[in-house]
Amino acid sequence: MSKLPIPCPIDFRYKMRSKISNSTYSVHGIDKYPAKLIPQAARYLLQEYIPKGSTVLDTFCGTGSVLVEASLSRFNSIGIDLNPLATLFASVKTTIYSETELNEAISKFNNEIRYMKSGDTYNFSNIYTWFTPQVLNDLSRIQKTISLAAKSLSNSQTRFLIASLARIVRECSKADSKGPKPFISKKARCSNKGINVDVLEKFYETASFIKMRLLDYSACFQKRPAPFSTILTGDTRDFLRHEISPTINAIITSPPYINAQDYYRSSKLELRIARLLPEYQMLNFSRSFIGTDRGKMNDVSYVPEAASPELVNLRERLALISKRHAKIVWKYFVNMKEVFHLMSISLKPGSIVCIVVGQNRICGIDIPTHNLLAFLAESEGFKIQEIFVDIIQKRHLPPKRNKHKGIIDRESVLVMSIPAKRI
Ligand SMILES: C[S@@+](CC[C@H](N)C(=O)[O-])C[C@H]1O[C@@H](n2cnc3c(N)ncnc32)[C@H](O)[C@@H]1O
Repeated sequence: MSKLPIPCPIDFRYKMRSKISNSTYSVHGIDKYPAKLIPQAARYLLQEYIPKGSTVLDTFCGTGSVLVEASLSRFNSIGIDLNPLATLFASVKTTIYSETELNEAISKFNNEIRYMKSGDTYNFSNIYTWFTPQVLNDLSRIQKTISLAAKSLSNSQTRFLIASLARIVRECSKADSKGPKPFISKKARCSNKGINVDVLEKFYETASFIKMRLLDYSACFQKRPAPFSTILTGDTRDFLRHEISPTINAIITSPPYINAQDYYRSSKLELRIARLLPEYQMLNFSRSFIGTDRGKMNDVSYVPEAASPELVNLRERLALISKRHAKIVWKYFVNMKEVFHLMSISLKPGSIVCIVVGQNRICGIDIPTHNLLAFLAESEGFKIQEIFVDIIQKRHLPPKRNKHKGIIDRESVLVMSIPAKRI
C-alpha cells in the first residue's frame, strides 16, 4: 500500500457558510433519517472535485442529501439505497412539484378521508407497545385513503402523501421523538406521549410543512429545468453488478458505519405503517444492510486480498473481547471490498470517488475505518488523492452508549480516483 496523504482537518459548515445557512435548509429538513450527510459536505465535494457535466452516483443515498445538492449545483444524479423509506424521501425531495399538483393531492386525500371509517389492520407483533388502538386506526385510515386517492393521482403526488404519513409515524407513537431507534423513555411515558394524538391534524400540518419546503426547492428550477435525478431501491451491489449507467463518472457517498446504525430498527415503524415493504421481506431486508449485526455471521468468508495486516490484527484483538464483533467488523470490510471492486469495474477510468465515513470505536477499540477502506480501495486500483477529517456535531447518531456498539465522533472523507491507466 502506498503512503496515505496526511488527513487534513476541515469544517464543512464553516467552509460553506456563505452558501448554506444550516443543515436543514430547503428540502433537507423534511425527514429525520439517521446519519444523514450534511449538505455542506456534499456541496463542498461537488464544487471542489466533480467536473461540470458529470453524472453523480450516490451508492448509499439515504434520503438524498447528495442528490439534492447535486441538482442545486446542476449535476445529473443517481441514488441507490436498500431502505424503501430512505428512497421514498429521496424521490420526494428531488422531484420538482408545482403548487397545483401538491394542492390537488391534499384535496383528493381530503375528499376521500371523509368516507373512510377505518383502514386495514396491521399485523405485526408488539404493535400496541408503540401505538394506542385509536392512533393506529387513524394511521391506517390515512394509509388506506392514500392508496385510494392514488388511483387518480400521479406517482409523485402519491409519494408526497406517503412521505407525509411516514413523517408523522414516530410523532404519533409512544416512542421518544429523539434518537434514531424507537424507544419509550421514562420522559415519553410520563408525558403520555402518543396517547391523545390528533393524528389527522398532524398529517395535515406535516403535509403543509413538506409542501412549503418542496415548493421552495422547486422554485430554484424555475428559470432552467432541473437536472435529472433517478432513485433506485435495492442492494447497491446488485445495481453496480448489472445496471450501472455508462454516463456515471463520479461517486459521492457515505457508506453505512460498522454496527453503529440499525437502519432496520430505526425505520421499522414507518416501513410498516406506510406499508413500504411486505412483512415477509422484513427479515431478509434487515440482514442485507452492510455493517449490520443482524443475522448469522458464519457466512463471513475469508477473502485473502481483503486482509491488510492492520485488519487481521484488528480482528484478532476484537476476537479476544467478542468473537461476534470481530466477525461483524470483518464482514463489513469484506462487503466494502466488494463495493469498491464493483465501483472500479463499472466506472470510467478517471472517475472521481468521494467516500465520507465515520470513525468508530467498537468494544473499546478504535477502528481506523478510513485507513482500512483506503487500503481496500487501493487494492482495487483506486488512487487516494486527499483525506479530510471533520468533527461530527449532530447527525441523529446514537448517543455514547454501551461499549460494544459503534460510537462515532468524527468522520473522514477519502477523495479518490480511478486512474486513466489501470496499474
Ligand atoms: C450513512 S447512510 C447514508 C446517508 C445519506 N448520505 C443521507 O444523507 O441521507 C448509509 C445508507 O446505506 C444504506 N445501505 C446499507 N446497506 C446497503 C446496501 N447493501 N445497499 C444499498 N444501501 C445500503 C442504508 O440504508 C443507509 O441509508
